[in-house]
Amino acid sequence: QVIRQWTGLEELGTELSRKLGIQKVMVVPGGDDHDLTKHRMARSACGYMAGVLQEGSIVAVTGGSTVASVADEAVTAGLPAGIRFIAARGGTSGDVKSQANMIAAMLAAATGGDWTPLHLPETLAETSIGPLMEEPSVMEAMDLYNRTDCIVHGIGDALELARRRGADEATLEKLAAEGAAAEAFGYYLDRDGSVIHRLLTIGLNRSQIDRIPHPLAVAGGKEKAGPILAYMKQAPGQTVLVTDEAAAREMLRLS
Ligand code: G3H
Repeated sequence: QVIRQWTGLEELGTELSRKLGIQKVMVVPGGDDHDLTKHRMARSACGYMAGVLQEGSIVAVTGGSTVASVADEAVTAGLPAGIRFIAARGGTSGDVKSQANMIAAMLAAATGGDWTPLHLPETLAETSIGPLMEEPSVMEAMDLYNRTDCIVHGIGDALELARRRGADEATLEKLAAEGAAAEAFGYYLDRDGSVIHRLLTIGLNRSQIDRIPHPLAVAGGKEKAGPILAYMKQAPGQTVLVTDEAAAREMLRLS
């Protein structure tokens, strides 16, 4: 039964990676049971990381429940010790386990590594950004972002993420009117992958993301097919996507 479930998924991943124009797509079975597929995607993500990372590697992580699952799985995943984890974003309200800083700390604890915190609010006033960039801890984070080997990130539905961040009605209406389809790293994208809005934030930025050798996107569930397609329109070509069968089949149907 298990073998039958995985049969054909490699071919599905290969076809999808060609369509999306990215390095690799790893597809796990299922999609309806979100907890189960998050667990499977997390195991695949850890397996990929174990293959490309080594002692001294720098890994940035975003927040979200899917990336949090990666930290849960890392305990038994055989990742090398001595990796440095860093939050790609500051803190938000909501579930503490899904905060980027918490995930970085949990990954370090699970794998015998270290972590560097980014103790800032995720969204900042424009006037705060300049002075905060002079903070030694922020400068240290920026130095690590410039040397990051792997970023593990989620992809979300734009309006759902904006709501999670407490956006007001006017902002939600503006995003909807502009065709917001996906969110990743605080960037809101339309269906063509164009940035239509971004958070005022300090964290891993677009030019740093483009230079990272191993960007690892982890997102699944049929409802994420649209957001993933939008994000991949502008994703770095070296991106590896871990997704589930439901999202993968829906992406092929939509594209
Ligand atoms: O940026 C996208 C979100 O972090 C995805 O969150 O994994 O909880 O759906 P999620």
